[in-house]
Amino acid sequence: MDMSSFAWLSLLLAEFSRWTSAGDLRVQCYLPEWTLSNEGNNPFRISDIAPTKACDVIIYAFFKIEDGVPAPTNGSKYRQHFAQLNDLKEAQPDLEILLGVGGWGSGKEFASTSSNPASRIKFASAVVTTLRRWSLDGVNIDWQFPEPAGARDHALLLQSLREAFELEANKTQRERLKLTTTVTQTVRLGYLPKEIAKYVDGVNVLTYDYKGNWGSTVQKTAVNAGFPDVRKSVTDWINAGITPAELSLGIPFYGRTWTLTNDTGNTTRDVGMGHEAIGPGVGGFLTYDNGTLSYTEICINLKTGWTRKTDPASSTSYAYSGNQWVSYDDDDSISIKVKWAESQNMKGVFIWHIGLDDRQGACGPKFPLLAAIRKAISPSTKAMSKTPNPTFDIPVPSTRPSPPSSASYNPVHTSSSLGRNEPSKAILIGFLFAFVNLIC
Ligand SMILES: *[C@@H]1O[C@H](CO)[C@@H](O)[C@H](O)[C@H]1NC(C)=O
Ligand SMILES: *[C@@H]1O[C@H](CO)[C@@H](O)[C@H](O)[C@H]1NC(C)=O
Ligand SMILES: *[C@@H]1O[C@H](CO)[C@@H](O)[C@H](O)[C@H]1NC(C)=O
Ligand SMILES: *[C@@H]1O[C@H](CO)[C@@H](O)[C@H](O)[C@H]1NC(C)=O
Ligand SMILES: *[C@@H]1O[C@H](CO)[C@@H](O)[C@H](O)[C@H]1NC(C)=O
Repeated sequence: MDMSSFAWLSLLLAEFSRWTSAGDLRVQCYLPEWTLSNEGNNPFRISDIAPTKACDVIIYAFFKIEDGVPAPTNGSKYRQHFAQLNDLKEAQPDLEILLGVGGWGSGKEFASTSSNPASRIKFASAVVTTLRRWSLDGVNIDWQFPEPAGARDHALLLQSLREAFELEANKTQRERLKLTTTVTQTVRLGYLPKEIAKYVDGVNVLTYDYKGNWGSTVQKTAVNAGFPDVRKSVTDWINAGITPAELSLGIPFYGRTWTLTNDTGNTTRDVGMGHEAIGPGVGGFLTYDNGTLSYTEICINLKTGWTRKTDPASSTSYAYSGNQWVSYDDDDSISIKVKWAESQNMKGVFIWHIGLDDRQGACGPKFPLLAAIRKAISPSTKAMSKTPNPTFDIPVPSTRPSPPSSASYNPVHTSSSLGRNEPSKAILIGFLFAFVNLIC
């Protein structure tokens, strides 16, 4: 075979694998370290995940930022956790393990870390070092949340990370580290979607907590993560410039709860949306968090007399007993979201979080919600991408969705090129490797 036909074949195969991976819905599972640290009460071990093979990606949540670099949140357990996560790859070699950095309340650290070129490069270099040291495949930036004034810095931080990852991959001939970021359900002023899209491998949209039990005014029961809200968030992000192939939608493995003003008194009446409440529901016996219940707690409640209903408007479920009320996702609503994500050629779905599923099988088979996700993903797509077969007909590229229009989104910060103030590549290279040498 001569060189030109070899090149042509390579291109064709590259195009083919791009197409198949675009159709392969990826399941990302957030795994909070505090779930693993919870020794006494309903302990969860990383090995519990192994038999399911239900997660394509596990995101370890979270490292915080300390002195401008990623740092463990709690003690030294993370070493053991990373080793155990890597053990999962023996049975599932294509499992991806990402480090989540940030989380709730991380806005201030991210803002200062991203505010100038030197601190961005210091952070990016330290991320490379951390990921390689613990054999992780990439990072998920969970900046909660960039202020409007920080939008440009947010994108610049992602740019620095991407450049550091590419540089390291080129230098070491290793596979480039992955970069994803997590964003709010609305396209707000803290983001420059078209810039973000240039640098990341994936964007996770927080498509839950549309309504909650926060605030001081009169509260009313409402839907946590209804399908119409989810669909609107995803569509807005696509219109703003993130391609479906980059986007994943979030599925909560918990419900939002309220304590009702009036006890339902075992009524046969439907106590649905908009019922007056005095505040958050009482925390569950496993998660002890006023205002939320894990799916495990909800399914156990259903077995012990709670009334369950489906809200047709949102395609989600709710349940109540006495003066307690919860809005949550079950296998039916999850199936609707997963199938829709697939129909939109989205990158995937992510779950918050794997420790909240019925992982010990208190109500039936273990991990029922994860299983519902897997079941909803169309098997033909999965089989095809898992075992790519070059003898398949090469799909016609026009079957992919056309690029979304950006007409409906007019960012106030019509950004110039973000590269302008960045230091030269030579400086970045020097800094990166000086830093790597220092740490290793
Ligand atoms: C840190 O982990 C230990 C157990 O490993 C746990 O007892 C403690 O509550 C954790 N602290 C935080 C802040 O999560
Ligand atoms: C890495 O190599 C690729 C391919 O040769 C090149 O396009 C890219 O610019 C390089 N990246 C960096 C940061 O040097
Ligand atoms: C609910 O309780 C309040 C007092 O807390 C009472 O004034 C109101 O009439 C009750 N509403 C119903 C429908 O029972
Ligand atoms: C509802 O019924 C259960 C079981 O029959 C009972 O224990 C509970 O006290 C009742 N609640 C009210 C408010 O009547
Ligand atoms: C949770 O709710 C219970 C009962 O309403 C209350 O006693 C407790 O202080 C609340 N816990 C927190 C952390 O707010």
